[in-house]
This record gives sequence, C-alpha cells and structure tokens, in this order.
Amino acid sequence: MKGIKILGIGAYVPENVITNDDLTQLMDTSDEWIASRTGIRERRVVSGDTTVADLAIKAAQDALKSANVTADTLDLIIVGTSTPDMIYPGVCCRVQDALGAPHAAGFDLALACTGFVASLVTAEQFLRTGMYKRALVIGADIHSRFMDWTDRNTSVLFGDGAGAMIVEASETENHLFASELHIDGTKGCDLKLQTNITNCPLVEPRSAISPYLTMNGREVFKFAVGLVPTSIQSALKRANIGLNDFDYLVLHQANHRIMQAMTEKLGIEPERMVFNLDRYGNTSAASIPLVMNEAVLTGKVKPGDVLVLCGFGGGLSWGSTILRWTAVDHRLQDQQSVQEPATVAP
Ligand SMILES: CC(C)(COP(=O)(O)OP(=O)(O)OC[C@H]1O[C@@H](n2cnc3c(N)ncnc32)[C@H](O)[C@@H]1OP(=O)(O)O)[C@@H](O)C(=O)NCCC(=O)NCCS
Repeated sequence: MKGIKILGIGAYVPENVITNDDLTQLMDTSDEWIASRTGIRERRVVSGDTTVADLAIKAAQDALKSANVTADTLDLIIVGTSTPDMIYPGVCCRVQDALGAPHAAGFDLALACTGFVASLVTAEQFLRTGMYKRALVIGADIHSRFMDWTDRNTSVLFGDGAGAMIVEASETENHLFASELHIDGTKGCDLKLQTNITNCPLVEPRSAISPYLTMNGREVFKFAVGLVPTSIQSALKRANIGLNDFDYLVLHQANHRIMQAMTEKLGIEPERMVFNLDRYGNTSAASIPLVMNEAVLTGKVKPGDVLVLCGFGGGLSWGSTILRWTAVDHRLQDQQSVQEPATVAP
C-alpha cells in the first residue's frame, strides 16, 4: 500500500453576502437570535446562473495553485456535493472540462455535510492501491436554492461555497493516518432534501413532496453531539495519536453550540478548533476545506501540524480523518516573492 501526501488546498465562495439583518426582510428573526443560537452572522449565496460547478472549478483552480501542479496531471476528480446543478453529467465532468484534466476519471459523491471527508477517504483508497497517482477532492454545495426562505428554522443556517484539496500517492511518505466513515439511515428523515420530479402521467402520481431542505434541528443536534466525538476518539486511537497530540480540530462548521459541546465532550480547549462559521454559515460539503484553507492562508495551520477533520450531517452520516499538513503552499510563497522587493528597497 502506498502512503498519502497532501499537496495543496483551495476554496471559493460567491460574492453575495447575506447578513442576519438582511434575513429579517424575509422572516420573523433577528441577528441576536441567530448569532446566539448558532454563531452565524452572515453567509454567501449564489446569484443569477452561477452553478455549483462554477464554485467547484474556482476552488479547484485555487488548490492547483496552492499545490503548484497542473490539471493535466490529475488522475481522479471526486466532487462531494448533494446539490448538483444537473442529475447528470456529474459536477466532476464539468470540473474536468473546465480545468483541462483529460486523463482524470471522476464521480460525484452525495453525503451532505460528510461529503468532503467521505470523498477524501474514497480518493485515499484509489491512491493507496496504486490505481491512481494524483487526485483532486472537492466539497461544494449550493443550499440557497433548496431553502424555503420563509422557514426560519432551517434557512438561517446554510450558505454556499466550495473547497478543494489535492492529494497524491507516495512511495516514501504517509501523512493521512486513519479514517472512519459511518451512516445511520434510520435517522435519515431528520435532515433531508428530496427531489420532487413527477411520475409518468399514466400511473398514480407521487404524493406532494417539499422541494426544500427539511430538518429536525433538535434531533440533529443530539445526534451530532452524541456520536461524532466518539468517532473522533476512535479515529485517533487507530492513528495512535492522543487527544493532546494533535494541533487543530477541523470540525464541520454547522453550529457553534454543537462545536462547543463536542470540544467539551472531548476535553479539548476551544482554541484548538478552527472556526469561520460566523462568516459563511453551514456550507455543507464545502465547510471543512473552506475553513482549513483559511487556517493555512492565515498561518494558523503550519506545515507539520496534525489535524483532525470531522464531517457530519444528512444521512445521517459522519466521518473523521486524521492527517498531517505538510504542503508548501505556493500561494503563500508567491505572495512572499511579490512582497520581497518592496522590503529590500522601500
Ligand atoms: C436549529 C437550532 C438552532 C434551533 O435551536 P433551538 O434552541 O433548538 O430552538 P428551538 O427549535 O427550540 O426553537 C426555539 C424557538 O425559537 C424559534 N426560532 C427558530 N428559529 C428561529 C429564528 N431563526 N429566529 C427566531 N426564532 C426562531 C422557534 O420557532 C421556537 O419558538 P417557539 O418556542 O415559539 O416555538 C438547533 O436545534 C440546532 O442548531 N440544531 C442543529 C442544526 C444543524 O446544525 N443542522 C445541520 C447539521 S449538518
């Protein structure tokens, strides 16, 4: 089995910012309620004809820059998304075309907010066995098109975005230590988004179906706080890494109260958790690479840091993976080389 190297990371969010105050035009809510119950202050949403593939392509281009590799070297593209623009072709096909990655195989993987972790773990299997050498893993979702914007229980929580990571097989190094994936279909109804396409007109019609995301918030809260910390502990155990021996917890950015309760349950200081939920809301499959990208760009996460990535959400589903960030981020190097002449000759 080969080892895994992480080469780069990238992200993209749409420009349109919707604040909590903006939402008061659509429903009976307040900045105070949303911020205190969730930690969210604003989110990004797509406008016009922007597609989830457009976001995924921009995040992928950013990750290629970070890794300093070209798209024609990619062998595999996996897009974790549960809000594709089309049933087919898959988002991966549009990404492949736009990037110019003719040698890449690919598929989309729908596992809601666990989509990125599940896609990364799936890519890992192809690389470890030697079937492929280099993979692009994307998490991208546009939930703003699947919201009832008068439903204050759900619509205030979500935002749109995309994140991407480039990983490759290595003969000499391994920086992906252990992973776990789970689903519990018995609780699927607690968080769901159904298609409401009609039956053939010659047969009994389907029952009326909500085209919007529906959620039992309290049950999802209980599930996340109850099961997810156990999965983190179990992945750490398999990696032989203690609770004090990793640097940052990169949790799916769903709700700050959920995240806080998880750190309490694990006995981890909240400072060891990366956080950008306040500015983007829950971006579903995008949230982990989005927050990780920010932590790398701001220098919070440094080469050598061990990270615990953990996604959870619709399915219900959850999964954790433990990795070491070792990549030299070429976006940061480029910034330094642009700034250097100014410091030499002010
Ligand atoms: C959704 C969530 C924030 C609701 O918080 P809560 O404390 O459980 O709130 P409740 O559902 O008990 O609602 C309390 C009251 O606030 C109201 N309320 C709900 N959303 C509101 C909003 N956006 N603004 C103002 N009031 C709101 C409710 O209608 C209810 O009013 P009532 O008592 O008059 O019926 C919380 O359950 C949660 O975070 N769940 C997890 C959701 C999640 O993260 N999902 C994605 C996982 S991937």
